[in-house]
Amino acid sequence: MLIDTHCHLDPAYFADPDAAMDRARAVGVGSFVVIGVGRDLAPARHAVALARRLPSQVAAVVGVHPHDATSLTDEAYAELAELARAPEVVAVGEIGLDYHYDHSPRDVQRAAFARLIGLAKEVHKPIVIHTREAAADTLEVMAAEGARDVGGVIHCFSEDRAFAERALEMGFDLSFSGIVTFKSAASVHDVAAWAPLDRILVETDSPYLAPMPMRGKACEPAYVAHTAARVAALRKMSLGDLANATTANAERCFRRIFPRD
Ligand code: NI
Repeated sequence: MLIDTHCHLDPAYFADPDAAMDRARAVGVGSFVVIGVGRDLAPARHAVALARRLPSQVAAVVGVHPHDATSLTDEAYAELAELARAPEVVAVGEIGLDYHYDHSPRDVQRAAFARLIGLAKEVHKPIVIHTREAAADTLEVMAAEGARDVGGVIHCFSEDRAFAERALEMGFDLSFSGIVTFKSAASVHDVAAWAPLDRILVETDSPYLAPMPMRGKACEPAYVAHTAARVAALRKMSLGDLANATTANAERCFRRIFPRD
């Protein structure tokens, strides 16, 4: 069994998330960590509601994406903190820094990232980190705010081995998305082959980043099987062994056991 450890299933992307989850189950993807982030908290509320309706298959993660850092008002923080305490919520995320798009000013992104690491520590849950073209600052904020106290996962890993070493050392696992199936992603291939087997996860980031051979289509959780197959091939191991390891890792990271049927 595989777990898609990072997918966005809110109505903006999936008219029928149940159908997408059914297609995933048909290929052995049995559980879903659903990320609720957006310009407001509607996706976070949706993720929690989905996890409440399907508690054995769905766990929710709530946060404020760095793109939307300017939306983290005191009022939004208060509601987010309430949502983050819900038992259906396994982590705070995705939070971090994105200097590629710069949709929010960088100082605002850094402040929101720091504040939300604080929230994760307050609710004693791990963190799901988004970082793009901001490696040094991401590590600096993580270290300064004591992210190692809660640990978590570097989502959609697309950095190099030096970054991976620092993240692992701070207690963060590495999650591989469809990027690992792209021919051009040499440093990601290197890390996927090298990283300790007990510290890696797989995800789709649906509806983004469909893996080969589905690249160009809207991504959905079923496709995590392609990503897992590529990681297994890079590590010269069977898909079954890779699935067992990454599923166990996800359950440890998110402190949630999913049923195996
Ligand atoms: Ni995401």
